[in-house]
Amino acid sequence: MNILVTGGAGFIGSHTIIELIQAHHQVVVIDNLCNSNPESLRRVATIVGQEIPFYKADIRDRQRLEEIFSSHSIDACIHFAGLKAVGESVSMPWEYYDNNINGTLTLLDVMRQHHCKNIIFSSSATVYGSPVEIPITENCPKGQCTNPYGWTKSMLEQILTDMHTADSEWNVVLLRYFNPIGAHPSGLIGENPNGIPNNLMPYITQVAIGKRAELGVFGNDYDTHDGTGVRDYIHVVDLAAGHVKALQAIERNCGLDIYNLGTGKGYSVLDVIHAFEEANNIKIPYSIKPRRAGDIATCFSDPSKAYRELGWLAQYDITEMCRDSWNWQRNNPEGF
Ligand code: NAD
Ligand code: UD1
Repeated sequence: MNILVTGGAGFIGSHTIIELIQAHHQVVVIDNLCNSNPESLRRVATIVGQEIPFYKADIRDRQRLEEIFSSHSIDACIHFAGLKAVGESVSMPWEYYDNNINGTLTLLDVMRQHHCKNIIFSSSATVYGSPVEIPITENCPKGQCTNPYGWTKSMLEQILTDMHTADSEWNVVLLRYFNPIGAHPSGLIGENPNGIPNNLMPYITQVAIGKRAELGVFGNDYDTHDGTGVRDYIHVVDLAAGHVKALQAIERNCGLDIYNLGTGKGYSVLDVIHAFEEANNIKIPYSIKPRRAGDIATCFSDPSKAYRELGWLAQYDITEMCRDSWNWQRNNPEGF
């Protein structure tokens, strides 16, 4: 298929392009580079041995989208483009709603005008809010989000669902990611956060490389096996492969489908620190800090629906995730 990848220069998009090309799909990328570097696409080109057609443009720019859809026969869109920093979304809600919601509405409108009604959307486990069941199945009701970023995901899921309800020609796959970490085993591409990392693994790798003195562990009084927060970390290459499987659902005219993409295993913050230390033989100094606002104790998936219906199963374990995160950081201390 000919796939438009929005946000393809970013962390998950760049890894997904590799899997798409290796599965013999064609790819066109649109990214405004607001949170990425075009070097990621050059590295992807090195890995796959072909150039990646790339448009530096904003998905809110209807005219540029029109140009892209007019010059390529796009069969489906994998929609990664969006702002994703939780804390920033609290202080800049308008920018988050404008970018994520308006951007997606513009994209959907141009898509339907060009008779392309197939979309895979990057959603998040954050839509479950404080989940009423663990492990979380797709039947778990959506919950209250604690920040505008989370609400954009929740609202966009609803918008996409309503589009499908009104017009059954739409095939919509909502992929709810758990906690993507790791990097391509080549060490050529990986996560490249701006400034102080918000998320656990990039913080750990920056401590490991000596950029930060120690990791703050946000709370050790949760109701978990060691008191620290438990999450479902998933290797980004496994996550990327999940998108290729989701395209097969689209090819079958799936209608509307929702899948959790996680491993089904929960690791605490201390488990991850220890796994990183063992995998890479590096000590990670840390100290216990107060809880972070909006955090929940435990969040991990039941990924069995994706296995049953898509034949998708995560392959990499936590040791490999830690190894590949470090391999990327060590080879690229300043990112791209
Ligand atoms: P990322 O920031 O690395 O990639 C997103 C890309 O979208 C960036 O390259 C950015 O420049 C681009 N972009 C943003 N707004 C745009 C716009 N208006 N027009 C064009 N391009 C735009 O993030 P990521 O980690 O690769 O995440 C990809 C998607 O997955 C996002 O929608 C994110 O919310 C979602 N997601 C990520 C995680 C995670 O932990 N990384 C978890 C759940 C969901
Ligand atoms: C966060 C977002 C979530 C988003 C996800 C994407 C919040 C509240 N949630 O999830 O909306 O979809 O990222 O990956 O930000 N931790 C530390 N020290 C740190 C960083 C994190 O102890 O410096 C802990 C956290 O308290 C948590 C765990 O590590 O228990 C994972 O944190 P993080 O990587 O930020 O992911 P989430 O909070 O699960």
